[in-house]
Amino acid sequence: MKTNIITREQAKEKLCLALDVDSLSKAEEMVRLLKDYVGIFKIGLQLFTKEGSKTVETIKNIGGNVFLDLKFHDIPNTVGNAARMATKMGVYMFNIHAAGGSEMMRAAVEAVKEESQKSSFPNPIILAVTVLTSINNAILSKEMNINCGVKDQVLHFADLAQSSQVSGVVASPEEISAIRNKCGNDFIILTPGIRPIWSTAKDDQKRVTTPGEAIKLGADYIVIGRPILNARDPVEASNEILTEMVSHCK
Ligand code: C5P
Repeated sequence: MKTNIITREQAKEKLCLALDVDSLSKAEEMVRLLKDYVGIFKIGLQLFTKEGSKTVETIKNIGGNVFLDLKFHDIPNTVGNAARMATKMGVYMFNIHAAGGSEMMRAAVEAVKEESQKSSFPNPIILAVTVLTSINNAILSKEMNINCGVKDQVLHFADLAQSSQVSGVVASPEEISAIRNKCGNDFIILTPGIRPIWSTAKDDQKRVTTPGEAIKLGADYIVIGRPILNARDPVEASNEILTEMVSHCK
């Protein structure tokens, strides 16, 4: 059984802030403000496309861990080389698409091993994206010609990622328990779609759960963006999220 009781410091390590902002200066301001409350800062396509690799350097210099959320999906050689670059940049975690296949996932795993032996950086955690939450059963069947349903496909990709030596997956709150049962306690699960109890806005997230409940279900990391970024007081919002994570898991 995975033990879910956590301390405040452990809650902080599990909290990942989605830096969905369009300038490095705004990102830097949030990292400086929240680094004592947030364990990992997620750089996504928007910020990386605008500001490039200096975002990673800047966040690391302030003392934050970086999740590079660029969802690599290409031929094995190209993804392997991108994984090498992510390792050299010293990111804490990055992700790839399980739909790229086992050979592509293994290329990323091997590149990370080789590169971290050469550099002084530890192995970044690699996570596989299974089925995007914007894809439902109808789209999966009609547009992708996959007819087993989203849940089975997610479990299939989680299994494929694990057998390709990938450390874990990105999954919606609804899939945490099934993945935990299938892939065991050491397989990492990172979950977006989180809304704190006090947050009334679901924004465009359809299937949401609270921070504490996600941890209780077995998530290792939770990703939260707008409830913190748009809060009147982002420090207070982060603080309340940590308190809820700890108290819900007692
Ligand atoms: O603002 P919010 O808390 O909804 O942000 C969630 C973050 O997690 C965003 O950066 C979004 O791109 C990301 N994400 C998601 N659902 C997925 C995968 C990633 O919301 N299935």
